[in-house]
Amino acid sequence: MPQFDVVIIGAGPGGYVAAIRCAQLGLKTACVAGWPTASSLSPLGGTCLNIGCIPSKALLDSSHHFDNIRQHAAVHGINVSGVGLDLDIMLARKDAVVATLTQGIAGLFRKHRVELFRGRGRLQGGNNVTVTDLNGNVSETLHARNIIIATGAEPVSLPQAPVDGQRIVDSTGALSFDEVPARLGVVGAGAIGLELGSVWRRLGSQVVLLEAMDNFLAAADAEIAQEARRTLVKQGLDLRLGARLTGTRVTASGVEVQFERGGKAEVIEFDRLIVAVGRKPHTAGLGAAAAGLQLDDRGRIVVDVACRTNLPQVYAIGDVIAGPMLAHRASEEGVAVAERIAGKVAQVDHALVPWVIYTWPEVAWVGKTEHELKAAGRSIRTGKFRLQANGRARAMEAVDGLVKIVADAATDEVLGVHIFGAAASELIAEAALAMAFSASSEDIARTIHAHPTLAEALHEAALAVDGRALHS
Ligand code: FAD
Ligand code: NAI
Repeated sequence: MPQFDVVIIGAGPGGYVAAIRCAQLGLKTACVAGWPTASSLSPLGGTCLNIGCIPSKALLDSSHHFDNIRQHAAVHGINVSGVGLDLDIMLARKDAVVATLTQGIAGLFRKHRVELFRGRGRLQGGNNVTVTDLNGNVSETLHARNIIIATGAEPVSLPQAPVDGQRIVDSTGALSFDEVPARLGVVGAGAIGLELGSVWRRLGSQVVLLEAMDNFLAAADAEIAQEARRTLVKQGLDLRLGARLTGTRVTASGVEVQFERGGKAEVIEFDRLIVAVGRKPHTAGLGAAAAGLQLDDRGRIVVDVACRTNLPQVYAIGDVIAGPMLAHRASEEGVAVAERIAGKVAQVDHALVPWVIYTWPEVAWVGKTEHELKAAGRSIRTGKFRLQANGRARAMEAVDGLVKIVADAATDEVLGVHIFGAAASELIAEAALAMAFSASSEDIARTIHAHPTLAEALHEAALAVDGRALHS
């Protein structure tokens, strides 16, 4: 039986990064990677690379170019005519981006001598992991001194809208429509609904988002969420909040969606419907019950602060445990667990996980919202700066949005940074770094920011905490 210091189950951003770090630290490492159903996709990179972060961002970028050329070229004095869409090429480019990156992981595994076993990993007694095919036939049994479970998550399904892969799809189906649906419904106005809704709106769909909650983007700062809502609605996303889905009916011409809103029953017919109402941990086939692995009431693997499960030498990371379902969080946990196995001290600061929603403009935040801090009785000061007064934003024609900094009233420590604006996904890195070093808003205010940059808006928001913004 092959013996390993570490066997990792799952090769998403949690699992593959953990594998590389284990190997870097001199641990004999294997990674068992597969999909729950037959798939032509590489198991390397997991959800993120194959059906999540990367393909969605590839389509967001392509559709942004298309939208920009059609809607915004003229203002720059660029006359464009005959703009057309070749969806096959757009989708093929997305697939090529994914293929390049998954092949890159295969190369990294070879370089670091991580042994890859394709198949489904299953826990067996005595720290063994079997590798099985989709029918449960065992091809290999691996002995592991340590096991890291990184099996990720899968879409939540709704009985009122069963995914058929044709009219009703989940996020994976929505990354590969063979034509632009004229009428597109999306159940759930969360991260996936907003991003994929934006992609297809830019490509020409009439998009209606049906969101159960009454407030939009509840996890974000309320002011930022309100700003984002106004802009996205102005762009053409038809956002219906407080919509309770009651049923769907696939017809010859589309899919009829029944919902209740404000006590009134409504029906809309769409060509396609995306169901994007959250994701749930993936533990099927892992042999969790037989192995005695503890799960919580939502099916997540229970871990302590060091990602240790209740089984000795078995760890779990990423989407399969509680916490934000984000690729960078999974990767950081993978690195930390690898380092702990190698006897090092490692920590992940879960309070400083940045969030980004890649609409245009983008929504990004790190730390606490103003509302959370006030509810906790913290005394705070806020500083805001609108991009309309930022020179670079003007030059770019990207003046929608603002930067907001929330700082402790007494110590001035930055407690949260919230951005709605162009390149917010990049700007948030400065905020996360500042907060990792317990920076005050004064520290950011005293840091020289290059001119003209969007980052100057962060600088100005820091000055605004003390009421001394220069350009507002
Ligand atoms: P996963 O990436 O899900 O990987 C787990 C892998 O393990 C999968 O391949 C799974 O099939 C495999 N597996 C499961 N069970 C077994 C088994 N028994 N044996 C072997 N293999 C198994 N996050 C971001 O941070 N930024 C984004 O922009 C972003 N965009 C997203 C867009 C979409 C459309 C979706 C769906 C998700 C997005 N996410 C994004 C979330 C991100 O993809 C996840 O948080 C991340 O992939 C979690 O990493 P993971 O390693 O925990 O699990
Ligand atoms: P989500 O949790 O972000 O949003 C789901 C939305 O659906 C919520 O607003 C919820 O109120 C709503 N909802 C739930 N049940 C509903 C119902 N029956 N009818 C109508 N609305 C309903 O989940 P989503 O968008 O599916 O994404 C899953 C996860 O994937 C995210 O939470 C995030 O962790 C990750 N992700 C991250 C991205 C990023 O970082 N940019 C992009 C896409 C996904």
